[in-house]
Amino acid sequence: MMLFLDTAELEEIAARADTGLVDGVTTNPSLIAKSGANIKERIADICGVIPGPISAEVVATETDGMIAEGQTLAAIAENVVVKLPLTVDGLKACRALTDQGIATNVTLCFSINQALLAAKAGATFVSPFIGRLDDLGEDGIGLIEDIRYLYDEHGFATRILAASIRSAEHVEGSAMAGADACTLPPRIFDALAQHELTDKGLEAFLNDWKSAGQDAI
Ligand code: G3P
Repeated sequence: MMLFLDTAELEEIAARADTGLVDGVTTNPSLIAKSGANIKERIADICGVIPGPISAEVVATETDGMIAEGQTLAAIAENVVVKLPLTVDGLKACRALTDQGIATNVTLCFSINQALLAAKAGATFVSPFIGRLDDLGEDGIGLIEDIRYLYDEHGFATRILAASIRSAEHVEGSAMAGADACTLPPRIFDALAQHELTDKGLEAFLNDWKSAGQDAI
Protein backbone atom coordinates (compact mmCIF):
# COMPACT_ATOMS: atom_id res chain seq x y z
CA MET A 1 0.00 0.00 0.00
CA MET A 2 1.31 3.43 -0.94
CA LEU A 3 1.43 6.12 1.78
CA PHE A 4 0.69 9.70 0.72
CA LEU A 5 0.92 12.82 2.90
CA ASP A 6 -2.32 14.80 2.96
CA THR A 7 -1.03 18.36 3.24
CA ALA A 8 0.00 21.40 1.18
CA GLU A 9 2.63 22.53 3.72
CA LEU A 10 5.99 22.17 1.97
CA GLU A 11 7.96 22.00 5.22
CA GLU A 12 5.81 19.14 6.52
CA ILE A 13 6.50 17.21 3.32
CA ALA A 14 10.23 18.01 3.12
CA ALA A 15 10.73 16.98 6.75
CA ARG A 16 9.45 13.46 6.00
CA ALA A 17 10.71 12.97 2.44
CA ASP A 18 14.03 11.46 3.63
CA THR A 19 12.25 8.58 5.37
CA GLY A 20 11.88 7.02 1.93
CA LEU A 21 8.35 6.06 3.02
CA VAL A 22 6.40 8.92 1.41
CA ASP A 23 5.04 7.69 -1.93
CA GLY A 24 3.06 10.78 -2.86
CA VAL A 25 1.07 13.81 -1.67
CA THR A 26 -2.57 14.83 -1.88
CA THR A 27 -3.89 18.37 -1.64
CA ASN A 28 -7.34 19.89 -1.95
CA PRO A 29 -8.67 23.47 -2.14
CA SER A 30 -8.97 23.72 1.66
CA LEU A 31 -5.37 22.57 2.22
CA ILE A 32 -4.04 24.93 -0.47
CA ALA A 33 -6.09 27.81 0.97
CA LYS A 34 -4.74 27.06 4.45
CA SER A 35 -1.16 27.15 3.12
CA GLY A 36 -1.67 30.64 1.68
CA ALA A 37 0.37 29.66 -1.36
CA ASN A 38 -0.38 29.96 -5.07
CA ILE A 39 -1.56 26.49 -6.15
CA LYS A 40 0.63 26.27 -9.25
CA GLU A 41 3.74 27.38 -7.37
CA ARG A 42 3.08 25.10 -4.40
CA ILE A 43 2.29 22.03 -6.51
CA ALA A 44 5.49 22.67 -8.52
CA ASP A 45 7.47 22.87 -5.27
CA ILE A 46 5.89 19.66 -3.92
CA CYS A 47 6.59 17.84 -7.20
CA GLY A 48 10.22 18.85 -6.78
CA VAL A 49 10.40 17.18 -3.36
CA ILE A 50 8.37 13.99 -3.90
CA PRO A 51 8.68 12.14 -7.25
CA GLY A 52 5.47 10.13 -6.73
CA PRO A 53 1.84 11.07 -7.51
CA ILE A 54 0.97 14.62 -6.41
CA SER A 55 -2.79 15.34 -6.39
CA ALA A 56 -3.90 18.88 -7.26
CA GLU A 57 -7.64 19.65 -7.30
CA VAL A 58 -9.59 21.76 -9.77
CA VAL A 59 -12.02 24.38 -8.46
CA ALA A 60 -14.19 24.69 -11.56
CA THR A 61 -17.54 22.89 -11.29
CA GLU A 62 -18.46 22.58 -14.97
CA THR A 63 -16.89 19.97 -17.23
CA ASP A 64 -15.19 22.31 -19.68
CA GLY A 65 -13.70 24.41 -16.90
CA MET A 66 -12.52 21.30 -15.07
CA ILE A 67 -10.83 20.00 -18.20
CA ALA A 68 -9.08 23.35 -18.80
CA GLU A 69 -7.90 23.60 -15.18
CA GLY A 70 -6.87 19.94 -15.22
CA GLN A 71 -4.70 20.51 -18.28
CA THR A 72 -3.11 23.53 -16.60
CA LEU A 73 -2.35 21.54 -13.44
CA ALA A 74 -1.07 18.52 -15.37
CA ALA A 75 1.35 20.76 -17.28
CA ILE A 76 3.10 21.71 -14.01
CA ALA A 77 4.96 18.40 -13.72
CA GLU A 78 4.72 14.84 -15.02
CA ASN A 79 3.80 13.47 -11.58
CA VAL A 80 0.74 15.71 -11.12
CA VAL A 81 -2.54 13.84 -10.66
CA VAL A 82 -5.63 15.95 -11.39
CA LYS A 83 -8.19 15.74 -8.60
CA LEU A 84 -11.86 16.03 -9.60
CA PRO A 85 -14.99 15.96 -7.42
CA LEU A 86 -17.30 12.98 -7.87
CA THR A 87 -20.08 14.82 -9.68
CA VAL A 88 -21.45 14.16 -13.17
CA ASP A 89 -19.38 17.04 -14.50
CA GLY A 90 -16.35 15.73 -12.64
CA LEU A 91 -16.83 12.26 -14.10
CA LYS A 92 -17.14 13.67 -17.63
CA ALA A 93 -13.96 15.67 -17.09
CA CYS A 94 -12.28 12.55 -15.70
CA ARG A 95 -13.08 10.60 -18.85
CA ALA A 96 -11.83 13.42 -21.07
CA LEU A 97 -8.58 13.93 -19.14
CA THR A 98 -7.97 10.19 -18.87
CA ASP A 99 -8.38 9.90 -22.65
CA GLN A 100 -5.71 12.61 -22.96
CA GLY A 101 -3.33 10.51 -20.87
CA ILE A 102 -3.64 12.66 -17.76
CA ALA A 103 -3.73 10.88 -14.39
CA THR A 104 -6.86 11.56 -12.35
CA ASN A 105 -8.03 11.22 -8.75
CA VAL A 106 -11.82 11.31 -8.32
CA THR A 107 -12.46 12.60 -4.81
CA LEU A 108 -15.29 13.01 -2.30
CA CYS A 109 -16.43 9.42 -2.81
CA PHE A 110 -18.91 8.13 -0.20
CA SER A 111 -20.67 5.15 -1.79
CA ILE A 112 -20.18 1.98 -3.83
CA ASN A 113 -22.20 3.43 -6.70
CA GLN A 114 -19.97 6.52 -6.77
CA ALA A 115 -16.87 4.30 -6.81
CA LEU A 116 -18.41 2.29 -9.69
CA LEU A 117 -18.88 5.48 -11.72
CA ALA A 118 -15.34 6.68 -10.98
CA ALA A 119 -13.93 3.40 -12.30
CA LYS A 120 -16.17 3.52 -15.39
CA ALA A 121 -14.91 7.08 -16.02
CA GLY A 122 -11.36 5.70 -16.10
CA ALA A 123 -10.12 7.33 -12.89
CA THR A 124 -6.53 6.50 -11.96
CA PHE A 125 -7.45 6.84 -8.27
CA VAL A 126 -10.73 7.08 -6.37
CA SER A 127 -10.70 8.73 -2.91
CA PRO A 128 -13.30 7.37 -0.48
CA PHE A 129 -13.48 9.70 2.55
CA ILE A 130 -13.65 7.21 5.39
CA GLY A 131 -13.28 9.66 8.29
CA ARG A 132 -16.27 11.71 7.19
CA LEU A 133 -18.38 8.55 6.95
CA ASP A 134 -17.28 7.51 10.45
CA ASP A 135 -18.16 11.02 11.65
CA LEU A 136 -21.75 10.15 10.66
CA GLY A 137 -21.61 6.79 12.44
CA GLU A 138 -21.22 4.92 9.16
CA ASP A 139 -18.52 2.34 8.30
CA GLY A 140 -15.71 3.99 6.36
CA ILE A 141 -13.46 0.94 6.34
CA GLY A 142 -16.42 -1.15 5.23
CA LEU A 143 -16.71 1.04 2.15
CA ILE A 144 -13.06 0.35 1.32
CA GLU A 145 -13.74 -3.39 1.62
CA ASP A 146 -16.79 -3.12 -0.64
CA ILE A 147 -14.97 -1.08 -3.30
CA ARG A 148 -12.10 -3.58 -3.24
CA TYR A 149 -14.57 -6.41 -3.88
CA LEU A 150 -16.35 -4.42 -6.59
CA TYR A 151 -13.15 -3.53 -8.44
CA ASP A 152 -11.67 -7.02 -8.20
CA GLU A 153 -14.90 -8.73 -9.28
CA HIS A 154 -15.32 -6.49 -12.33
CA GLY A 155 -11.66 -6.04 -13.27
CA PHE A 156 -11.53 -2.27 -12.76
CA ALA A 157 -7.97 -0.86 -12.75
CA THR A 158 -8.81 2.23 -10.69
CA ARG A 159 -6.74 2.34 -7.50
CA ILE A 160 -8.41 2.88 -4.12
CA LEU A 161 -6.87 5.86 -2.27
CA ALA A 162 -8.25 5.87 1.28
CA ALA A 163 -8.68 9.48 2.42
CA SER A 164 -10.10 11.52 5.29
CA ILE A 165 -7.90 9.54 7.67
CA ARG A 166 -8.39 10.30 11.35
CA SER A 167 -6.13 7.77 13.10
CA ALA A 168 -3.44 5.11 12.76
CA GLU A 169 -6.28 2.60 13.06
CA HIS A 170 -7.76 4.02 9.86
CA VAL A 171 -4.43 3.36 8.11
CA GLU A 172 -4.33 -0.20 9.48
CA GLY A 173 -7.94 -0.82 8.49
CA SER A 174 -7.42 0.59 5.00
CA ALA A 175 -4.38 -1.63 4.46
CA MET A 176 -6.22 -4.75 5.66
CA ALA A 177 -9.24 -3.84 3.52
CA GLY A 178 -7.07 -3.78 0.40
CA ALA A 179 -6.67 -0.08 -0.32
CA ASP A 180 -3.94 0.62 -2.89
CA ALA A 181 -2.95 3.84 -1.16
CA CYS A 182 -3.79 5.86 1.92
CA THR A 183 -3.34 9.60 2.32
CA LEU A 184 -2.81 10.76 5.87
CA PRO A 185 -2.02 13.91 7.83
CA PRO A 186 1.70 14.19 8.74
CA ARG A 187 0.97 13.72 12.46
CA ILE A 188 -0.62 10.34 11.76
CA PHE A 189 2.24 9.36 9.43
CA ASP A 190 4.62 10.03 12.34
CA ALA A 191 2.51 7.88 14.67
CA LEU A 192 2.62 4.75 12.49
CA ALA A 193 6.03 3.56 13.74
CA GLN A 194 5.25 4.21 17.39
CA HIS A 195 4.52 1.41 19.89
CA GLU A 196 5.21 1.45 23.62
CA LEU A 197 6.59 -2.10 23.61
CA THR A 198 9.14 -1.11 20.97
CA ASP A 199 10.30 1.79 23.13
CA LYS A 200 10.45 -0.34 26.27
CA GLY A 201 12.22 -3.19 24.48
CA LEU A 202 14.87 -0.92 22.98
CA GLU A 203 15.51 0.73 26.33
CA ALA A 204 16.01 -2.69 27.92
CA PHE A 205 18.39 -3.81 25.15
CA LEU A 206 20.55 -0.73 25.54
CA ASN A 207 20.54 -0.87 29.31
CA ASP A 208 21.65 -4.51 29.24
CA TRP A 209 24.39 -3.63 26.76
CA LYS A 210 25.69 -0.80 28.93
CA SER A 211 25.40 -2.85 32.13
CA ALA A 212 27.57 -5.56 30.61
CA GLY A 213 30.24 -3.00 29.81
CA GLN A 214 30.05 -3.75 26.12
CA ASP A 215 32.02 -1.51 23.80
CA ALA A 216 30.59 0.48 20.95
CA ILE A 217 30.27 -1.54 17.74
O1 G3P B 1 -7.71 14.27 1.06
C1 G3P B 1 -8.97 14.49 1.64
C2 G3P B 1 -8.79 14.93 3.06
O2 G3P B 1 -7.97 16.08 3.11
C3 G3P B 1 -10.10 15.21 3.75
O3 G3P B 1 -9.88 15.01 5.09
O4 G3P B 1 -10.24 15.35 7.51
O5 G3P B 1 -11.15 17.01 5.85
O6 G3P B 1 -12.17 14.74 6.02
P1 G3P B 1 -10.92 15.57 6.17
